[in-house]
Amino acid sequence: MSPRTGASAHNLLTDHPELYEARFPDPGRLAGRWTEDCLRRHGAGPRVLDMGCGTGRDAAHLHDAGRRVTGADLSGAMLAHARAHHPGPGYVRADLHGFDLGQGVFDAVVCLDSTLLYCHTNDQLDGFLSSCRRALAPDGLLVAEMRNGAYFLGRTDLLDAPGTAGFTWRGTVHRSTTTLTLNRTDQLLCRTRVWTADDGSEPVEQRSAWRLLFPQELRHFLAAHGFEVLELHDGPGPRTEPPWREGRLPGRTTDADRLHVVARRTRPA
Ligand SMILES: C[S@@+](CC[C@H](N)C(=O)[O-])C[C@H]1O[C@@H](n2cnc3c(N)ncnc32)[C@H](O)[C@@H]1O
Repeated sequence: MSPRTGASAHNLLTDHPELYEARFPDPGRLAGRWTEDCLRRHGAGPRVLDMGCGTGRDAAHLHDAGRRVTGADLSGAMLAHARAHHPGPGYVRADLHGFDLGQGVFDAVVCLDSTLLYCHTNDQLDGFLSSCRRALAPDGLLVAEMRNGAYFLGRTDLLDAPGTAGFTWRGTVHRSTTTLTLNRTDQLLCRTRVWTADDGSEPVEQRSAWRLLFPQELRHFLAAHGFEVLELHDGPGPRTEPPWREGRLPGRTTDADRLHVVARRTRPA
């Protein structure tokens, strides 16, 4: 059976948040704990925006840690799930390419699991960073965690063979086959994922892409938008191997496949 191609605006996982949490479980709230640790270490105030909050589980963790959290996402299905299953934060629809939720109203913006890399073009990155700068109070923090474009320089292990994964959700076994390719002209890591399920449904093919952002390029974008980089490293973090644990301090290299950044909004001179 040849796969149906999913419309680019739709994504099986973001359209089905329960499936997303089943495919990417984080029962120990590692991502939320790592984020809270970054915020504490740098003395962030209580008001946090989680941009691209997805199912809301990290936003809710930060809320439970005592912060006043707003979760923002473009997916209506994600926002509905977050309101129902991860209450506490306020949830709003916003586009990370350009948003205005008020001026100086947050002490930190967090952007986790490569959401920032949905800024494919330089204009979209500029839109995101200028929106963050407007949203942040003086000395506010930007905390982001994503794939590292530099990892692909001279390495092909993630590109050579399709990756497969399987998991059971509500009695149905779902399998995905993921192929990654590079678009060097646009600096995009392109993903084709074919989903199959043992319930007789047709396979579904979906395509998405992340910006291949390099550490020095990210530094330059941040400086251009009035941010001082406090940390930029490849781990430990919530999605590194070995993963971050309480008490582990950030490294200094940017060589492995995940990139973590903490930057402070500078005051105007
Ligand atoms: C990989 S998920 C990460 C979700 C969550 N941050 C986490 O770590 O579990 C990416 C999220 O970004 C959202 N997203 C994609 N493009 C977006 C955009 N232009 N503006 C806002 N959110 C977007 C998706 O709906 C999805 O919830």
